[in-house]
Amino acid sequence: MKQLYGVIGDPISHSMSPAMHNSAFSDLGIDAYYHPFHVSPEHLKDAVKGLKALNIQGFNVTVPHKTSIIPLLDEIDPLASAIGAVNTVVKKDGKLIGYNTDGLGFVSALLHEMGNLIHPECNILIVGAGGAARAIFYTLLSKGWTRVDICNRTVQRAEVLIGECPIVGKSKPLTLQEAQSTLNDYDLIIQTTSIGMSPRTSEIPIDLENLKPNSVVCDIIYNPLKTELLKNASIKGAKTQNGIGMFIYQGALAFELWTGIKPDTEKMKKVVLQQLGGTTC
Ligand code: ATR
Repeated sequence: MKQLYGVIGDPISHSMSPAMHNSAFSDLGIDAYYHPFHVSPEHLKDAVKGLKALNIQGFNVTVPHKTSIIPLLDEIDPLASAIGAVNTVVKKDGKLIGYNTDGLGFVSALLHEMGNLIHPECNILIVGAGGAARAIFYTLLSKGWTRVDICNRTVQRAEVLIGECPIVGKSKPLTLQEAQSTLNDYDLIIQTTSIGMSPRTSEIPIDLENLKPNSVVCDIIYNPLKTELLKNASIKGAKTQNGIGMFIYQGALAFELWTGIKPDTEKMKKVVLQQLGGTTC
């Protein structure tokens, strides 16, 4: 019988996950279907109960449910629990188990695209201290990076994020101004805020005047594919990476958790770029 997968969120109509996962199921000959479910916050509890009753095999969780779903699940993986957010749910032995593949998705994309430039001693700066920053920060520390600072408009949020991480590194919270003036200390800069995302594409979260020319600058935004920040970084001679890779790999890791099979990430990327072309033209 055809197996059911999906994604829950509010809004959900622009999600590129259904096209990406349905294409992977079809390419691998897996008899499964992935559906976008529009679930508003007041219906989350009933929706999770309903999906379990309908024997869904797995689903993704997106804004605004990544944190509020935690008490509704049967088990939470330790990394997702530390991050305090779930983006992937797996049904196993009748139980719903929550995982977080966002941070691992970012790190996998980084190693895939920039592996030759990234090493364990890299000095890393994360810009922003929201949910995406938390997933990336905790995952970087869990993978052995220790020199990871966080700058944020509200520096107290960066302080809390570092203080709550179960792994202790050598991290400092910084104001945006402090980070801007010490930017040449960093080999890798990871932009995690929504600043620069369509339609406000002219905005930039941090001034790159002091950027090291041979550094790597990543932006988790993929719409537009090249944010103003990445354009400025390229002008300064840095290597750049947009958010497509993180999106693809968080999906590929979820797919693997559900099926035990690694999907073709290049094919997934093609499907996503086609979707983006369709939505941005
Ligand atoms: P998410 O969960 O998607 O990461 P979030 O928790 O709302 O989203 O966090 C958004 C991040 O973008 C925060 O770091 C936020 O800074 P504050 O903590 O100071 O709010 C940052 N951000 C959003 N708008 C910003 C702006 N106009 N200038 C600077 N930082 C901004």
